[in-house]
Amino acid sequence: MSDLLDCRQGLPALPPALRERLGDADEVLVLTGAGVSAESGIATFRAALSGLWARFDPAQLATAEAFREDPARVWSWYEWRRAQVLRAEPNPAHRALADWAERPGRLHLVTQNVDDLHERAGSRRVIHLHGSLHAPRCFDCARPLDTPPLPDAEEQLVAPPRCPACGGLARPGVVWFGESLPEDALATAWALAERCDLCLVVGTSGLVQPAASLPEVARQQGATIVRIDPQPAADFSGDWQLLGVAGVILPALLEQL
Ligand code: APR
Repeated sequence: MSDLLDCRQGLPALPPALRERLGDADEVLVLTGAGVSAESGIATFRAALSGLWARFDPAQLATAEAFREDPARVWSWYEWRRAQVLRAEPNPAHRALADWAERPGRLHLVTQNVDDLHERAGSRRVIHLHGSLHAPRCFDCARPLDTPPLPDAEEQLVAPPRCPACGGLARPGVVWFGESLPEDALATAWALAERCDLCLVVGTSGLVQPAASLPEVARQQGATIVRIDPQPAADFSGDWQLLGVAGVILPALLEQL
């Protein structure tokens, strides 16, 4: 059973055992999800009402079938999301993780997010498990394509550009439901989970596989698992749940280490 630390009024003094595990960690794996970008104004996926999947049907927008059926609708939706990300700024959570990586020891950042806010905060070698909004490719020949200029009007319906090589349609460089993750990224993330001594799980509901299994892989080989999220997870089998927002907890955590 994990220990819950209520951090909604700020991070309290760390329990000595947690401080020791955090301080002694030499190989840190950080797994982030949509929650780490929430304080930058980017909607998460499953928040009631405000979450993307509360407002849009993923089957209509985040599958290859949906793209075949209506490429302009799907392309326009991802361009709308790309516009939001380009307008957004990294928040203190992104910056704290970039700072943490500069400290002694090795910190590896694996994200499910398709935004580039970790990189814009200064994090390097970020492993993207679900692709990126900034890496379109051809739907037919998979050739990487340039990101086109954003549409003038926010919610304008635009057709995806065509591949200069084969004439196929450009598709967003994200992993859609039913698609496999990029092999290298997943293999690297798995290897990190198998050898890390601390795994931080930040802002993810842990509902989407295989990313959701990474903390368990780490736990089974003896790593300390710390989850940072305002919502407690009933089925969390890790060590600590720090209940609160990442933009408050991560900078404060760094200060205490
Ligand atoms: N700080 C930390 N956590 C937060 C914050 C915050 N400020 N705001 C929200 N959260 C938490 C929510 O409580 C929730 O547990 O972030 C989590 C977001 O969960 P989801 O919306 O399910 O997003 P995520 O886990 O990243 O989704 C995984 O599902 O839809 C697919 O491909 C998409 O990568 C995505 C994957």
